Amino acid sequence: MKLIFLGPPGAGKGTMAKRLAAARGIVHISTGDLFREAIANKTELGLEVKAIIEKGGLVPDSLTVRLATGRLAAPDCGKGFILDGFPRTSAQAEALEKFTAVDAAVNFELSEAEVVRRLSGRRLCPSCGATFHVDFMPPKTPDVCDVCGKALVIRKDDQIEAIRNRLAVYTRETEPLISFYGERGLLKNVNAAPAPDEVFAAVRKIL
Ligand code: AP5
Ligand code: MG
Repeated sequence: MKLIFLGPPGAGKGTMAKRLAAARGIVHISTGDLFREAIANKTELGLEVKAIIEKGGLVPDSLTVRLATGRLAAPDCGKGFILDGFPRTSAQAEALEKFTAVDAAVNFELSEAEVVRRLSGRRLCPSCGATFHVDFMPPKTPDVCDVCGKALVIRKDDQIEAIRNRLAVYTRETEPLISFYGERGLLKNVNAAPAPDEVFAAVRKIL
């Protein structure tokens, strides 16, 4: 199954993509994770995108499309994939459409107030990428990763100013993709507000 996960920052795309990818044995591709990995490894790409990402802007389409299609061309994507955070502009959606067909675009709907609550309480493991929330999905020991025991960190773009910027960018650049996929009969809306188990059950049902 080839899927796109759409939705505002903090809607739970990554959390649900990890669970669904594990359940279905398909690949989870997060362009945000790929960029953060490049930043952590101080690669040429990482140095180029670091400042843009920390402020909550969008990486240029040409770079992002090259990164995403390069990843999609790998043999492990043959069984299916979940694209989390790509495409997020009309140009990216058009480029993807030329590259491969998808079966559905799942759109996670969440209010701005809830986005801010989720992102300001998010904690990330810099080592294994596991994601927690101080109130909604707390780790067993505060600030320690349940999976690998490393100290959790706060993403630089989870500061309130960057969150506001990401929301504005989302409304301007990414929200139009809801009609793009709606017109193609691929859109599946999911209410992302309930607890994780409930959202996950809704995703499985809709697919
Ligand atoms: P990216 O990493 O994709 O960030 P995002 O889209 O802003 O989304 P997030 O990862 O912040 O949120 P999420 O929906 O995955 O939520 P999560 O599951 O973590 O991109 C980062 C940056 O990279 C961009 O700003 C841009 O600069 C660049 N970039 C990436 N892709 C690009 C592209 N295609 N083009 C150009 N630039 C690009 O959950 C959030 C929190 O809520 C967590 O704490 C979680 O534990 C908690 N939570 C999850 N589900 C629930 C629930 N049901 N109930 C309660 N809490 C929950
Ligand atoms: Mg994410």
